[in-house]
Amino acid sequence: MTEPGPTEWGRRPGVGPWQGPPPDDDRYDPTLLREGDTRNVVDAYRYWTREAIIADIDERRHSLHIAIENFGNDANIGSVVRTANAFAVDTVHIVGRRRWNRRGAMVTDRYQRLRHHDTTADLLAFAADAGLTVVAVDNVPGAARIEHASLPRTALMIFGQEGPGITDDAKAGAALTVSIAQFGSTRSINAAVAAGIAMHTWITQHADLSNAW
Ligand SMILES: C[S@@+](CC[C@H](N)C(=O)[O-])C[C@H]1O[C@@H](n2cnc3c(N)ncnc32)[C@H](O)[C@@H]1O
Repeated sequence: MTEPGPTEWGRRPGVGPWQGPPPDDDRYDPTLLREGDTRNVVDAYRYWTREAIIADIDERRHSLHIAIENFGNDANIGSVVRTANAFAVDTVHIVGRRRWNRRGAMVTDRYQRLRHHDTTADLLAFAADAGLTVVAVDNVPGAARIEHASLPRTALMIFGQEGPGITDDAKAGAALTVSIAQFGSTRSINAAVAAGIAMHTWITQHADLSNAW
């Protein structure tokens, strides 16, 4: 029988205390070994300390950065962080307000590199220093279809907030602007959903799927 994969995780919310002699490995957390592990982590990380999990993901992070402009009060940031964690994105950049609702992140923010920038100009300066090609993601006139675009491997994808969308600064600073094809009546997709689609498009173009869970 094959081991359960991600789609079966819901069957087992966690694991009980470690059975047998504890492993002699400092990645394991003595408290979790003793009491069990009910965290929302993949089975490979059961009983590991948070630091050990972060160190392991850090070895495998993709050359993809994500930014979301947070000049209003965008409740989507938590969902974006959770999806970025799932895809081992390098860093999630939050531009504007420092405060955001962590609930949607479902604790994944503890394992995800996050970085704040006061302005979009600051974010763009960071991207230039880091050698990242900036991709604005929005359904604005002149955008290329993401379904046909070759996304840069070393990239920063910027998403706008509900309502106004991406700022003019983000559009002006981007080497490429892409939109997700739509067919219904709505003007746009929820920003966190759009971010998930765009991240996954990058994954299909650049990730080594043999490293996926
Ligand atoms: C709800 S949209 C708002 C703005 C949108 N430009 C409009 O016309 O109403 C918020 C963000 O979600 C993302 N988004 C939503 N739909 C998208 C689409 N079809 N293509 C690309 N990005 C999209 C963009 O990052 C956008 O800034």
